[in-house]
Amino acid sequence: MTASARPDTEVIFDPATYTTGVPFEALTRLRRARPVAWAAEIPVLGWPEGPGFWLVLRHAEVESVLRRPDLFSSALGATQIRDPATPQALDYVRRMMLNMDPPEQSRLRRLLSRSFTPRAVARLEDRIRGHARAICDRVFTGPRGECDFAKDVAADLPLLTLADVLGVPDQDRWLLFDWSNRVIGYQDPDYASSAEFDPATGTAMAREALSVRPVPDADGRMPDPRTREGMPDLYAYAHLLAERKRRRPGDDVMSILLAQPDEGGVSVAEFENMFWLFAVAGNETLRNGLPGACIALLEHPQTQAELRADPALLPVAADEMLRWWTPVMTFRRTATQDCAVGGQPIRSGEKVVVSFTSANRDETVFADPDRFDIRRQPNPHLVFGHGPHFCLGAHLARIQMRALFAEVLARTSALAYAGPPSYLRSNFQRGVKRLPVAWTA
Ligand code: HEM
Repeated sequence: MTASARPDTEVIFDPATYTTGVPFEALTRLRRARPVAWAAEIPVLGWPEGPGFWLVLRHAEVESVLRRPDLFSSALGATQIRDPATPQALDYVRRMMLNMDPPEQSRLRRLLSRSFTPRAVARLEDRIRGHARAICDRVFTGPRGECDFAKDVAADLPLLTLADVLGVPDQDRWLLFDWSNRVIGYQDPDYASSAEFDPATGTAMAREALSVRPVPDADGRMPDPRTREGMPDLYAYAHLLAERKRRRPGDDVMSILLAQPDEGGVSVAEFENMFWLFAVAGNETLRNGLPGACIALLEHPQTQAELRADPALLPVAADEMLRWWTPVMTFRRTATQDCAVGGQPIRSGEKVVVSFTSANRDETVFADPDRFDIRRQPNPHLVFGHGPHFCLGAHLARIQMRALFAEVLARTSALAYAGPPSYLRSNFQRGVKRLPVAWTA
């Protein structure tokens, strides 16, 4: 229990907790006591009370849950702790690969893996390094300065990369930013009606999509972004893009995906849902992971200097930055039958939530788990999940981390806080809204 006598599980569940940081002590107490804990879903953010869930805290048990989609389904109740608001909303999210089980999920997964051809990936890697250079050229000018690392440095790289993957024209990429903000704004109102995209610079496709963008109601609330009505502009854009790619394929991954002749390729409807998934999964995660990694360096100036002196350490260090920050904190499954996890009986239909944050600090797997150790090897963190839904973008995410910090460290001799960071209100993404940084060339 905490000093305020709130149960640890309640503190861990409450999205508001994360505006002041992750409750690591509560997680450690729970994890040491048992592999799985029952958590109540108290009413938060105006949402009603939920039925509660099993929180899986240890590395071995998290892996064992994620390895068994037959027992722990992504489709039954989808993959967020909160149930979708209506049966229609559940149907809607289940059209996405993330919320499917094998064998439905396996077909899309196979088609996608084949679309990331070695040639396409090599091209993406070159482009990512070029984008990282261009962003840093823009920010690090003169002998010293200050910037918001979250907005000025980290936000654009995932967008530019996604634009390349999806074949979205560069000038439309801030649409992706606004869409994923809307989805995340479900937990943090600061983001709900994000409008960073400038229609004056966008394509005709973007303007057509914008004409159906939803607007806040009288109370300032946007429609639920996990329903089709919440994202009509995203769907309109994805539809126009798919038609365009069908007519005139480019060398982007999505053109390859649409053109695959065997197994029927993907339909336009499947493409639209894939677009949603990539736009959110490939953006939100990294635009938080990159500032999270920067915070690791700000908190450890000595390590920052070591990394600057020996950039060959970066590939191993990038994985430790990811473990230390762990941008995606949880994912949810639903038990398909009575079973057990770590000796804890679980009933059919109950929610099972894996904590990557806790598993990545499991002291039985990681020596001195709270230490930021850029030479940690092996580093079997679960940042990208495990099993059939293992992150499809893990390789691209690592390349972005390495490319950005190679540039940032090469251009600076010191990075320090220029003010306090501000964190996202969310129990799902470990998010950084602002990160004021002072740099010296
Ligand atoms: C640091 C960055 C990232 C983190 C922490 C992350 C994390 C994750 C995790 C934990 C999952 C597993 C979900 C589950 O088990 O239910 C996942 C799945 C996925 N990720 Fe990532 N991700 C990152 C970057 C990316 C990028 C850059 C892309 C795309 C370019 C991407 C695309 C996907 C997709 C499509 C899935 C669904 C896979 C499936 O359902 O089979 N992710 N990600």
